[in-house]
Amino acid sequence: MKILRWFAVAIILMSVSIAASAEYLETKVSFTERLNTSAETLVVLVPADTEELSLSGWSNETAAQVNRAMSVREFTGAAKQQLEIIAPAGLAVERLVLVGVGSPSELRRTDAEEIGAALANHVNSTKAETIHVDTRLVTDAADNARVSASIAHGVDLRNYRFDRFKSQPDPRPSQTYEWLTVGNSSAAAHYETFQGLANGVFIARELVNLPGSSGYPAAFAEMARAALEPLGIEVTILGPEQVRELGMGALYGVAQGSQHKAHLLVAHWKGSDDQPIALVGKGNTFDTGGYNLKTAAASILAMTTDKAGAAAVVGAVAALAAERAPVNVVAVAPLSHNLISGEAQLPGDVVTAGDGSTIEVANTDAEGRLILADGIWYAREHFNPRVIADIATLTGAKVGALGTEYSAIFSEQDDIIRTLRAAGENTNELVWQLPLGPYSNITSSRIADRRNTGSPGAQAGAIFLQHFAGDTPWVHIDMAGNALIQSASGIHPEGATGYGVRLLTEWVKIYSAE
Ligand code: BES
Ligand code: MN
Ligand code: ZN
Repeated sequence: MKILRWFAVAIILMSVSIAASAEYLETKVSFTERLNTSAETLVVLVPADTEELSLSGWSNETAAQVNRAMSVREFTGAAKQQLEIIAPAGLAVERLVLVGVGSPSELRRTDAEEIGAALANHVNSTKAETIHVDTRLVTDAADNARVSASIAHGVDLRNYRFDRFKSQPDPRPSQTYEWLTVGNSSAAAHYETFQGLANGVFIARELVNLPGSSGYPAAFAEMARAALEPLGIEVTILGPEQVRELGMGALYGVAQGSQHKAHLLVAHWKGSDDQPIALVGKGNTFDTGGYNLKTAAASILAMTTDKAGAAAVVGAVAALAAERAPVNVVAVAPLSHNLISGEAQLPGDVVTAGDGSTIEVANTDAEGRLILADGIWYAREHFNPRVIADIATLTGAKVGALGTEYSAIFSEQDDIIRTLRAAGENTNELVWQLPLGPYSNITSSRIADRRNTGSPGAQAGAIFLQHFAGDTPWVHIDMAGNALIQSASGIHPEGATGYGVRLLTEWVKIYSAE
């Protein structure tokens, strides 16, 4: 009896098994200091400048073959190198995959994630179902934990699939990965934090991937609620009547032509008693342009992504709550459906926003700033935040200026710009500052307090929104074009990227620690 109990405890200590983000992944991941099983594929993490590679248990024959292959392919262990040896002599595994990790203490998290993504992509191209990853050449325990966990995280990020509309989906990656780490490596604990983050990214990807008639405002809000409440996040959903009663006419107007009227989603993770950080995300669940109809087939088709800002703030609070981050953060997502009908708003209409100011809707396709105006106002009015970050797929002008690898950030607060840039570097969700400039009058209107268009285009959106932030420190993040990719690349499978979740999760942690 005693022996049995000791044995059970020993097994638990030896191997920490974690169900990978259950809803979205079918891979299984565990970390151990001793492997008892066998695998089809053995992966070895190899630090830079490894001249002779030999692991305990390898025969001379194995080592000779491996080292010859390394020299033929000029594999040195530089970060991101990958070398596969099929049917390695003297080993039971079918494949041996060497993965370069460079200098482990200097390996950036984003590079480790890319390494994991490339590994996943390779493993998925084989039939292997069981994978051992030997990390013991990364000898320093702290480096081992960091590097192993971020590579495992990169595997997960790449393995998300959006297949809910396939009647016969391709089988999802469903391998078992066992990570062999060194003593005292806390890889499992690091990985668990990353799982919360990956889950946040998956929630965002799922919401963004939803077609326009499936992810309408109420559906978006309920999906978010289902994902967030189990994490201890307080979720409030305001329906169209409440939106109107609270005076949010700018938000209401955008969806008034659709049978799916406007909603406002509020998700509050109160991990500390600090003054809250507000994240306001554009949730236009489809953008036809309204009466200023989008007429280019490709551009209207991409507008299922017009809810990506809202998805990003939902995913970020999910990630922060999952890791029990000691931050007070509230996500506010105004949700609309920009459609046409006999009830839709018309170009030139005037609406009254929550703050009582009037807006000339000079172009119904500039709807993002209309719904964000009320989202920002609501956050300010109800949460008195120390800072507001809004994030939105706002303008084509931003895509023209910066492309799709950067988002544009606009702010008058240098500390916000600096911390956002740091968060962008840490997560490879890059940001680039554009000036608000001497453009404060570009949105003035002849007939109302302001209008929703102006030139230059990206600045007009920012200048318009700045009014609604009042004197609360504020940043506007224009992520137009970053939400979707046509083919898989790095940590992203094809489709929605989940852009913004990793950036905002990191930024909230950096900003609130200052
Ligand atoms: N959702 C679009 C912006 C967009 C463009 C997102 C490309 C993703 C990729 C936004 O609502 C929009 O239509 N913006 C207009 C504004 C204009 C009418 C002032 C634009 O940028 O053309
Ligand atoms: Mn639009
Ligand atoms: Zn839009």
